[in-house]
Amino acid sequence: MTTEERVPVLRVEHLTKLFPVKKTKLRERQKYVHAVEDVSFEVYEGETLGIVGESGSGKSTLARTILALTKPTGGKVFFQGQEITGFHCRNRKQLRSQLQMIFQDPYASLNPKMKVGPAIAEPMLAHGLAKNQEEAKKNVEELLRTIGLQPEVYDRYPHEFSGGQRQRIGIARALATQPQLLFCDESVSALDVSVQAQILNLFNTLKKQRDLTYIFIGHDLAVVRYISDRILVMYLGKVMEIVPYDQLMSPHSHPYTQALISAVPEPTTAPRKDRILLTGDVPSPVDPPKGCRFCQRCFKAQPVCFQQEPEMIQVGPDHYVRCHFAKEVAQP
Ligand SMILES: Nc1ncnc2c1ncn2[C@@H]1O[C@H](COP(=O)(O)OP(=O)(O)OP(=O)(O)O)[C@@H](O)[C@H]1O
Ligand SMILES: [Mg+2]
Repeated sequence: MTTEERVPVLRVEHLTKLFPVKKTKLRERQKYVHAVEDVSFEVYEGETLGIVGESGSGKSTLARTILALTKPTGGKVFFQGQEITGFHCRNRKQLRSQLQMIFQDPYASLNPKMKVGPAIAEPMLAHGLAKNQEEAKKNVEELLRTIGLQPEVYDRYPHEFSGGQRQRIGIARALATQPQLLFCDESVSALDVSVQAQILNLFNTLKKQRDLTYIFIGHDLAVVRYISDRILVMYLGKVMEIVPYDQLMSPHSHPYTQALISAVPEPTTAPRKDRILLTGDVPSPVDPPKGCRFCQRCFKAQPVCFQQEPEMIQVGPDHYVRCHFAKEVAQP
């Protein structure tokens, strides 16, 4: 399918979120944490867009700003072609049900005093997806089966479950409102590897069964690429690259992405010879570098990178890179 034929479920335009930094001196100039800056992308129906970047690169803030859990400083968000920026629209409640988020720590999103079944039934009833308690219970039991838990867990409390099971319950709760777009923010990073694999497979199965579109956020490229059709790479609040899964290893990729890829262990015991080591720390998001955000740590950096910020350019089909040395392809 070409880009023109695909239907964007979500379109984000120049989204920016700055957090003011508390002043320490009276006459000090107001400073901001540049958590998300000028981020634009689209997500198409039925695809999984992975968002990857180091800790503090702005992934969660981006998701929270799209979902109106925090107010954007600038930019626009469109869902199914309609502007929903900050959810300042009449169908706010409906949007809440269609866009759902699964958090890193499912324990934090589940009320410890509430039994699992009623906790999943609650959003179903609130959004009118079940007529009464009885119907809600029936739906919840079915949902529990879908996610690989016995319906008997209905009357148990969250603390009685393991991390992997709790994550499944968090997924069931997010699915309760029959969302179209599901944000998974570090949804598997707290789990051990075998449970991670089970949950990732569950995401894949649910996607096929329910026509879901995912935004899958993580700091570990090895995990994110496993599930994603396209990957958006963030660095210090900016998008550095948007790349289809099968182009990740392309020589046209951003040097930062290349470094992330080279850090992914290969299924061999021998250490990688071509590993690109990232030196230096991530600069402060309060004072991001003047030129390219990545210039101070880039193995390809030239004087221009410290002076001028590169534009995002197209380097292949569906493949965009923000680097002075990326080679633009001619548009058909
Ligand atoms: N409420 C807030 N007030 C001030 N600064 C914030 C707030 N939330 C996030 N930030 C800052 O914004 C930047 C981006 O944070 P964010 O949590 O979005 O990163 P992340 O990519 O999700 O990181 P992680 O991988 O650790 O979850 C960080 O510098 C963070 O300190
Ligand atoms: Mg985060």
